[in-house]
Amino acid sequence: MAPVENSSNSRNIIVSGGARGIGRALARYFLEAGHRVYIFDIQEEELEYLKKVHLKKYDDDGKLEVDTCNLRDVKEIRSKVQAAAKFFGGRIDVLVNNASIASPYWKDGKTMEDRETLEQWQAYIETNLTSPFAMSQACIPYMKTEQRDAVSGAQKIHGAGPCIIHIGSFRAHQSDPNQEGYAASKAGQLGLMHAMAISLGHMGIRVNLVAPGRIKAAHESKEGDERGEDWEGQIAEKDVEDHPTNRAGRPKDIADACMYLMDAGFVTGQDITVDGGALRKK
Ligand SMILES: NC(=O)c1ccc[n+]([C@@H]2O[C@H](COP(=O)([O-])OP(=O)(O)OC[C@H]3O[C@@H](n4cnc5c(N)ncnc54)[C@H](O)[C@@H]3O)[C@@H](O)[C@H]2O)c1
Repeated sequence: MAPVENSSNSRNIIVSGGARGIGRALARYFLEAGHRVYIFDIQEEELEYLKKVHLKKYDDDGKLEVDTCNLRDVKEIRSKVQAAAKFFGGRIDVLVNNASIASPYWKDGKTMEDRETLEQWQAYIETNLTSPFAMSQACIPYMKTEQRDAVSGAQKIHGAGPCIIHIGSFRAHQSDPNQEGYAASKAGQLGLMHAMAISLGHMGIRVNLVAPGRIKAAHESKEGDERGEDWEGQIAEKDVEDHPTNRAGRPKDIADACMYLMDAGFVTGQDITVDGGALRKK
């Protein structure tokens, strides 16, 4: 007898670093599209605000859960992923590794000549590169296609199948001065992504990367909401001029790319840059 296909398009999605910024917008767009979302972040107050205010209706409907997790602590990652899998009834469909030290410059105007930057280097590598590896490793047991699914093809059972999306950066390809830590961690994610795409293929897990360009996302926060800030309010003339698309980047642009990848069953090992064409402009 042919296995019963999963007719529901609702996916169980973990978003790391989803308390604010692009991650918060990703979580909201996924919930609006009918998915279930579990958010990890280190910022307790922002998470509380998401659950009780910003995304309350999804929490009330049992579609959202949030938890604090320091992604530099691998033990914590492992136990929190287990809790997330329990919330989802044992199945994780999508992992979005979005959390990051997102500021590209060394702190306090330092350069790599200052030896103190070594500590910051380690923080970049642990947060932006080791944590996506450890998060992915912890999620694999709950994502991989079961043997019985392989009979009729993994992709048939769960639509496009499970997938992991790394949120990288255009800084993997282009730098301003004093960005060694950030650029190296983001370029490292590219290697991690294509190696994982090859290794996890036989488990039916696709792995891709979305590299944002300059995305205005400061309004996606408790403070932004309390001050009534919005996307338009952050746009300067230069933000338009810099982009062949004639506008600045929105968090929704990153959500659109992620949702494309979730449904793109024949796409793995790819790096999609979402930068309004800025990298192509001289
Ligand atoms: N906004 C942009 O213009 C832009 C450009 C290129 C790439 N990106 C990438 O997009 C992603 C999101 O960026 P953003 O602008 O929303 O940044 P952000 O700083 O607003 O959000 C990052 C989130 O990650 C969380 N985080 C950081 N360290 C953590 C840790 N140790 N444990 C748990 N959570 C932790 C933070 O608390 C925060 O909520 C990042 O990967 C960033 O590198 C952003």
